[in-house]
Amino acid sequence: MPSVSIVSPSAPPRADAVVVGVTRGKDGPRLAPGGDVIDEALGGQLSKALRALNAKGSPDEVITLPTLGLADFPIVVAAGLGPAPFDAEAARRGVGAALRGLTRRQRVHVALEAPAGALAEGVLLGAYAFTAYKSKPAKAALRTVTLGTATGERADVRRAATVVQAVNLTRDLVNTPPNDLYPQTFAERAAALAAEGGLDVEVLDERALKRGKYGGILAVGRGSARPPRLVRISYRPKRARAHVALVGKGITFDSGGLNLKTANLTWMKSDMGGAAAAIAATLALAALKVPVALTATVPMAENMPSGTSYRPSDILTMRDGSTVEVTDTDAEGRLVLADAITRAAEDEPDRLIELSTLTGAQLIALGNRVIGAMGEPGWRDEVVAAANATGEAAWAMPLPDALRKDLDSPVADIANVPADRFAGMLIGGRFIGEFVPDGLPWVHLDIAGPAFNTGRPRDYTPKGGTGAGVRTIIAAVEQLAAG
Ligand code: BES
Ligand code: MN
Ligand code: ZN
Repeated sequence: MPSVSIVSPSAPPRADAVVVGVTRGKDGPRLAPGGDVIDEALGGQLSKALRALNAKGSPDEVITLPTLGLADFPIVVAAGLGPAPFDAEAARRGVGAALRGLTRRQRVHVALEAPAGALAEGVLLGAYAFTAYKSKPAKAALRTVTLGTATGERADVRRAATVVQAVNLTRDLVNTPPNDLYPQTFAERAAALAAEGGLDVEVLDERALKRGKYGGILAVGRGSARPPRLVRISYRPKRARAHVALVGKGITFDSGGLNLKTANLTWMKSDMGGAAAAIAATLALAALKVPVALTATVPMAENMPSGTSYRPSDILTMRDGSTVEVTDTDAEGRLVLADAITRAAEDEPDRLIELSTLTGAQLIALGNRVIGAMGEPGWRDEVVAAANATGEAAWAMPLPDALRKDLDSPVADIANVPADRFAGMLIGGRFIGEFVPDGLPWVHLDIAGPAFNTGRPRDYTPKGGTGAGVRTIIAAVEQLAAG
């Protein structure tokens, strides 16, 4: 990652590119605060040039202007922020969009009066690229970014770098193809990262899972030649104010199993996005020394069709002793999560955050930008508030009691999928809730859409893995520590 520092906003340093913000005014584009020094350095020509180019100042508008020898920087990049006044997220998105096109420059200066932490996040999120599998990767040259802002301090930039490191790690893990990232290698990677961060790790292999009666994880993993794992990473600070359990869905590839998918197969490597986010957020919160104890409990399995696969109509005995009738092998996430939640709850945490690419119904209801949040209403709303404050959109969804009867099974305690497909996102949440012990405040975040961008890059969001959920977990836990 490039290094980011705050500099005086009054004098633009020598740079290979300068980023300014543009807001959308009633009578055309307006240079956002902080950009005036750049305009002055160019003899007032910048605002005129933006008008001449028909700039709008809309989100995701990025206009590159040459300075033709008039200044110490060869180009100015004008990033649209939307209408004034713009908030921190608009700044994050604007500079993110600008930085996506500037990774081949060595030194970039951002001349925008906005919170330094948000600017740093936008810069570092936008500069991300996944090049691990390119035999001739385009060289990223970006080394230093200076922020010309008077809002915020070095500690904000340091926090931003830690947060973005976690988001970008999640993106890397999601983007890594499933022939290289499967339960064993994912677990090894998680264990190595945890050890690096000085955290305790426990990896349960297939034999340990059998001993532990993890019927859900074992069933889902059985069709694959690559056996499942359960990874547990814990962070135990001195004088912890609370203990939060994190659980993330780690299906390294979801083919659907015997209920083979007919759609979306091409992006089912993203089905471990929740697991990656839970692991990365734990590492970040530990690095930030947040005084909250954390345990990430992450089930990892590959859902494949084969002669050893679990079948529709199998009845599973789960770790908690309850039985589940498998009516659809493609509803595998809730099965591995059920066991993981049971295990996580055995530590008697004060709160639970579970996140997963659980349902296509989340995409139908909320699309690829808004996380669906379900669970105990008090904690759910705190997590939704934290998400929205940090720039990740989340929306609270209800879990009416009446949903439970849809999951009634004639032969087992519960079925994993009802007969009809209505309210699929809520049904997923309701099934998950069945495995949360009474009295434990819990939230289920369905990130099926937000975890993976199948469309074009936008704002600070690249194509592919997005790192959805990481910032939400970090913000929610920080908020808990503060409150
Ligand atoms: N991993 C999928 C959910 C998913 C779908 C994520 C599309 C991202 C994009 C999950 O395991 C799944 O297959 N869910 C089923 C549930 C159904 C069988 C009740 C679904 O949504 O179709
Ligand atoms: Mn599935
Ligand atoms: Zn899945």
